[in-house]
Amino acid sequence: MPDPSAIRLTIPRPDDWHVHVRDGDLLRAVLPYTAKIFARAIIMPNLKPPVTTAARAKAYRDEIIAAVPAGVKFTPLMTVYLTDATDPADLARGHAEGVITAAKLYPAHATTNSEHGVTDIKKIYPVLEQMQKIGMPLLVHGEAIGADIDVFDREAVFIEKTLKPVRKDFPALKIVFEHITTQEAADYVAAEGSKNTLAATITAHHLLINRNAMFQGGIRPHYYCLPVAKREKHRAALVKAATSGGTMFFLGTDTAPHTRAAKESACGCAGIFSAPNALALYAQVFDEAGRLDKLEAFASRNGPAFYGVPVNPDTLTLVKSLKPNSEIKPILTENGQEIVGFAPMSPAFWGVADI
Ligand code: NCD
Ligand code: ZN
Repeated sequence: MPDPSAIRLTIPRPDDWHVHVRDGDLLRAVLPYTAKIFARAIIMPNLKPPVTTAARAKAYRDEIIAAVPAGVKFTPLMTVYLTDATDPADLARGHAEGVITAAKLYPAHATTNSEHGVTDIKKIYPVLEQMQKIGMPLLVHGEAIGADIDVFDREAVFIEKTLKPVRKDFPALKIVFEHITTQEAADYVAAEGSKNTLAATITAHHLLINRNAMFQGGIRPHYYCLPVAKREKHRAALVKAATSGGTMFFLGTDTAPHTRAAKESACGCAGIFSAPNALALYAQVFDEAGRLDKLEAFASRNGPAFYGVPVNPDTLTLVKSLKPNSEIKPILTENGQEIVGFAPMSPAFWGVADI
């Protein structure tokens, strides 16, 4: 029975500009949650081994398409994982053939499966040159890595040490600063983003939690991701940026599933699985900020404009109920492994209608 007092909001069907859907049984378990809601998604290439060539991106795309539930319309947009040895010609061919949408920079050892990442940005300058020429966006995991850099400072250091120099050397290169977590990043992108060469994705969880979430009454592995959540003032800056209506900010959930066993461990994996409720939680955040009217730009319009693709022609309806949402149960892989979803720390009332 639909709740007669519910508030509804209909927007063009959104896209998710940053997802990890994994492969094999994990892919089959998690993909339906993304595919049912989002029309398109930028697929992260950090598999084991990583997706480093156009040929591998094509094979991975086939595997993803085979896992889309019957009757669901969903387009995976593929990325390749840059290494010190990436061949610029392979990227250009893959882009021209429509196989690759973007390339991903993981500084070596920055996050899950990033050990093959780029060891020195200068090593990929020929690749960046090529990408700038053909208009292929560079997606960056924006964290500087080094024994002397505090984990909470990595993003701010990356802006100074890598992002600013790269933007100076490649002024026309389109860059997406992925899953930003700091006021420094939000301010930098807001100031520079109007040139249409720099944008940022923001996750639902970074809009909802600060770093205290990881330590509430004990260590809470399901709130641990990279870049790690920061202080409250940074969360507030992200909410301001996302809900500002600025075209340089758009939706990227960074849903990053790991099995319960891999997270609840002495060395637990980084990653928050938010595909089932992320869109509804963005609505919750925009509503609480009194900015629901800006959700459509953030979720459905700014990303397509930056990537140069049309806004999706179909629509999706969000519904706000009087009763808070019930907790999402862990989902199960074919092998009976549990994946625990993101649980917001305060009640949320929004949901997606009819799916
Ligand atoms: C991601 C993953 O698990 O692949 N983890 C995460 O915490 N976000 C990698 C990434 O995007 O950094
Ligand atoms: Zn990610």
